[in-house]
Amino acid sequence: MNKDKIKAKITELREIMKAQNEDYTSDQELRLPQPPLNKAGVSNRKIALTKDFDAVVKNNNFLNLLNTRTSKRKYTEEALTIGELSFLLWATQGVKQIVGKERKATFRTVPSAGARHPFETYLFINRVEGLEQGLYHYLPLEHKLEYLKAIEDQTEKVNEAFCGQIFFATAAVDFVWTVIPYRSEWRYTVNAQKYALVDAGHLCQNLYFASESIGCGACGIGAYEQDLADGLLGLNSAPSSAEDNEFVVYAASVGKVDKKEE
Ligand SMILES: Cc1cc2nc3c(=O)[nH]c(=O)nc-3n(C[C@H](O)[C@H](O)[C@H](O)COP(=O)(O)O)c2cc1C
Repeated sequence: MNKDKIKAKITELREIMKAQNEDYTSDQELRLPQPPLNKAGVSNRKIALTKDFDAVVKNNNFLNLLNTRTSKRKYTEEALTIGELSFLLWATQGVKQIVGKERKATFRTVPSAGARHPFETYLFINRVEGLEQGLYHYLPLEHKLEYLKAIEDQTEKVNEAFCGQIFFATAAVDFVWTVIPYRSEWRYTVNAQKYALVDAGHLCQNLYFASESIGCGACGIGAYEQDLADGLLGLNSAPSSAEDNEFVVYAASVGKVDKKEE
């Protein structure tokens, strides 16, 4: 791309970082139906998760967590337990309360503009006790995991989609967060896109601290090939303003870390 084209693209993209002041009537104001709080499960293989985290959380000292948190890319071969994975899912998208009779909203362990929570959580699992390698999807409303499918040559394909970051492809578990923009656009129209990107940071920040507190390390991942990553998850991600449009916005690897190596 030549310099002028890059400048034009940058100018266009910077606008998404600003508050949009145009007066748009939202679908909520038009009293159109509210989109679902999360995607419904599609698999008959659901895995129950625990909310009893006393046994898994080893470090509750917040000051200590602030001081030790770094992006960790070197993991041991040790598997996570299902209890530890339950905690990480809870910490990043766990639903604490469902409010509202007709127009429902969720309050979760992370903040989100207008409690829209426009995300879905997918996992590439390599090493979690009792779970086979493959692609999984978190069901926050039920606090369950569903097994979606095995991915042939998972390590190679994930490595390719995530720009050759082999530590990510081989980590015990990878979190991949998608956004369904309409969940927020229903209320915020042209401000929803900025809010979603801001909100995504909250998920990963909680993952960093939750990982640290259970003897794991995490690394946020923004480098990936959009089409390949969306393709691995089987998403309807072509450019569109459709209500079911969904695509990857952020990811993070997690694994046990060797304390001696820190
Ligand atoms: C939005 C975002 C995207 C990132 N993408 C990657 C990535 O693709 N690969 C990687 O190795 N680290 C990635 N990182 C980690 C940063 O490189 C790291 O946070 C930074 O170097 C500061 O180090 P620290 O987290 O240890 O404080 C990303 C972090 C953020 C917040």
